[in-house]
Amino acid sequence: MRTTTLGKNGPQVGRIGLGCMGMSWGYDEAGRDDATSIEVIQRALDLGATLIDTADAYGPYSNEQLVGRALRGRREQAVLATKVGLVPDGARQLHRNARPEYIRGAIEGSLARLGVDHVDLYQLHRVDPAVPLAESWGALAELVTAGKVRAIGLSEATLEEIKEADAIHPVASVQSELSLWTREQLAEVIPYTEERGIAFLPFAPLGRGFLTGRLQASQLSGDDMRTKMPRFQGEAFDANQAIVAKVREVAERVGATPGQVALAWTVSQGEYVVPIPGTKRLAYLEENSAAGDLVLPADALAELDAMPAPVGDRYGAAMGAAAAGPR
Ligand SMILES: NC(=O)c1ccc[n+]([C@@H]2O[C@H](COP(=O)([O-])OP(=O)(O)OC[C@H]3O[C@@H](n4cnc5c(N)ncnc54)[C@H](OP(=O)(O)O)[C@@H]3O)[C@@H](O)[C@H]2O)c1
Repeated sequence: MRTTTLGKNGPQVGRIGLGCMGMSWGYDEAGRDDATSIEVIQRALDLGATLIDTADAYGPYSNEQLVGRALRGRREQAVLATKVGLVPDGARQLHRNARPEYIRGAIEGSLARLGVDHVDLYQLHRVDPAVPLAESWGALAELVTAGKVRAIGLSEATLEEIKEADAIHPVASVQSELSLWTREQLAEVIPYTEERGIAFLPFAPLGRGFLTGRLQASQLSGDDMRTKMPRFQGEAFDANQAIVAKVREVAERVGATPGQVALAWTVSQGEYVVPIPGTKRLAYLEENSAAGDLVLPADALAELDAMPAPVGDRYGAAMGAAAAGPR
């Protein structure tokens, strides 16, 4: 797979990474199997999808343990990223906690579960409105000095927050939602991250599976968080098929799958943009990773850029305020 670096000064990574959340948490449980997930993570390394993303909140905790097991003996081949600052309660509602003392304790837990002595990228999952960002970011910067993390990043932060943090200690990465149906980050944040040589890691680059054209409404049930997201509800789900139809049209023309087109479009947004599609299936991993070498022609990009906006918001009130970003 083609490579880039994790921002201007970071380690080399494949043009497409791997998000591990859905292996343990968040979406439908059908097909969830730790042994297969471990194979998926190891195959990702074989294919050059070396940026491996997890978080303590996923599971909670079990996803980091899973990633740790998969990387045993292969730690050096991965650029390992985890997160702190979103804390699930017993009812699976997320709460923000970015207090310095909490962060200092959380990294120890993450290192133990991952079975490593440092992580390559430690990301603040959400800025905590109850804590001055300078305090949270200062605590993260201390972890770099202590050698427990190589670099620090933000997730779902505003441009102002990114600038504020960057003035205290370099922001290595920003992880926020970016896909064909979620483009807000293109306006201000990505021009800034590209100019500053900061990595931008699109999460949910496949629109949580929707943009692949394979997601059926019948798959969404139980604890699957998409059941609470407006875009996936009844009429919106149906109306948004128009977006999939357009992606499919482009995909047929360029000889790729809709999911590959969705991923290649995110890669085309910048030199330091590295999407982290999530899957727990080997066949999907292979398909997604192959998109790292797909370069979309200008007319395809123009057509994708002109697509209509989706029906429905990204996050719903039912998910609680902590999960949603600042916007
Ligand atoms: N920072 C944050 O707040 C935040 C929020 C959300 C996610 N993330 C990170 O971003 C990563 C990716 O986002 P995501 O997993 O939410 O969404 P995504 O990558 O857009 O989509 C994942 C979904 O698409 C399906 N899928 C993957 N490849 C496919 C393919 N080729 N064909 C058909 N379906 C396919 C997966 O199914 P299977 O699982 O069944 O393969 C899964 O249901 C996460 O794993 C996590 O690491 C971060």
